[in-house]
Amino acid sequence: MQKVIVLDFGAQYGQLIARRVRDLRVYSEIMPCDAPADEIAAAEPSAIILSGGPASVYADDAPQVDSAVFDLGVPVLGFCYGQQIMAKTLGGVVGHTEVGEYGPATITRVSPSHLLDGTPDEQTVWMSHRDSVAKVPDGFTITSSTGVCPVASMECAERNLYATQFHPEVRHTTYGTQMLSNFLFGICGLEPSWSMDNLIDSLVDEVRAKVGSDRVILGLSGGVDSSVVGALLSRAIGKQLTCVFVNHGLLRKNEPEEVEEVFTKQFDVDFVHVHAEERYAKLLAGVTDPEQKRKIIGTQFWEEFFAVAQQTGGVKFLAQGTIYPDIIESGARKTGGKASTIKSHHNLIPFPEGVSFDLIEPLDHFFKDEVRALGTALGLPDHIVWRQPFPGPGLAIRIIGDVTPEKLEILKNADAVVREELDAYNARLFEETGERNSEHSCWQYFAVLPDIKSVGVMGDERTYQRPVIVRAVESTDAMTADWAKLPYDVLGKISSRIVAEVPGVNRVVYDCTPKPPGTVEWE
Ligand code: XMP
Repeated sequence: MQKVIVLDFGAQYGQLIARRVRDLRVYSEIMPCDAPADEIAAAEPSAIILSGGPASVYADDAPQVDSAVFDLGVPVLGFCYGQQIMAKTLGGVVGHTEVGEYGPATITRVSPSHLLDGTPDEQTVWMSHRDSVAKVPDGFTITSSTGVCPVASMECAERNLYATQFHPEVRHTTYGTQMLSNFLFGICGLEPSWSMDNLIDSLVDEVRAKVGSDRVILGLSGGVDSSVVGALLSRAIGKQLTCVFVNHGLLRKNEPEEVEEVFTKQFDVDFVHVHAEERYAKLLAGVTDPEQKRKIIGTQFWEEFFAVAQQTGGVKFLAQGTIYPDIIESGARKTGGKASTIKSHHNLIPFPEGVSFDLIEPLDHFFKDEVRALGTALGLPDHIVWRQPFPGPGLAIRIIGDVTPEKLEILKNADAVVREELDAYNARLFEETGERNSEHSCWQYFAVLPDIKSVGVMGDERTYQRPVIVRAVESTDAMTADWAKLPYDVLGKISSRIVAEVPGVNRVVYDCTPKPPGTVEWE
């Protein structure tokens, strides 16, 4: 399989480049920047890309590249720090420019260039640097410059070495994709033939090679990431995988049944449905503090999980649905992706005495939309692949105050109405725009049950019942969010259906608070 190796000189840079390459349908993965050339050669790359990075090439601990990488006979392309380290390693000079360049800049082509082929002589690129190349190595020509950066790009076509000071992988570089295509298809002669099916095959091979005949355990939450890992491992190792689904009774209406259906009927794994609803109900009785609820729920999850792990016996590996943004968020993985991290909200796994597992994180190279595409290719249904974000502590943090069976029942039923109506609303927008998360579609939407009652009238009778709060937000990453500007008829239908269909509710209100200052959840 044709493969591009990205040597990563600083977390966050390499994966974005690898992703852009995969978008062009060439397989790409990253290796640490200091990987020895023979190790890189053993991976049989068709091309090598050197990423950017935050260091200065002259810093004491500046990441280096094995100079033999440039003699492998494999085309190399460097971006930003990648250009500087290429220049320095091959005998050029890197210096401080008087002023740094951060943000958009205009480059002017100064000589013919294979890399810039088919792009305008003057164009906008994205810069982010203070150091830059002052003298190119022997055999290189300067192909473009800016007012402050004499070597905005350089190349040595004879040795197939190319580099840019700017970042073609960033969308703000107008012709970045064209440059990457020039490199992959024009210069390296690769074919845009890689697909999800190839990816599944190679991930399956990797998992089989790592696991052998050992047993793997996976905590299934019903969420996208753990489900995709479950589906993938099922394809790779079938019944050597034990999926533990801890049912805390705090999932949404019908969700436990849906998860069980998929992982018992569609995928051939050892599925353990832990009915822990009553244990959770007891532990949560009378608890009103949100953080206390989270703590109880998280701790009990691991109790339940390890109980199954111990009963199962002989488990060597723990699988995790860690995806690439989790690693960025937790900031824990060093360049090159060698160290392992545990998903941030799981990062304090209280392993019982004497218990340890090796980790398997097959999705840790991928972005969320790639993970969804993988899930679809593995045959997971849309309701799992396109599931909206749902917090680990579940409905417990959407019931203000203590959690009781009566309140849970009300919230599940009201939430089912909100989801049904807003799923339909999103589906209409998807049909109109062709985009899943278009400008006005709701990203997360649910019901919240506050701890109050209010007066109402139904028929001729005075009622004194609970209100339900509808929360619907537009967002891309939950860091910030805006309340969804839902049409009145959609809100009206949600309101009338909840009051008519959910006993114990006589009023519906809509939360129109952005984040900040509000959070998405109420607890
Ligand atoms: P907030 O409420 O902080 O939520 O604006 C941001 C995103 O995180 C989700 N969330 C959680 N997810 N455990 C989780 O796994 C939690 O304790 C938790 N609290 C909030 C929330 O649903 C939203 O998507």
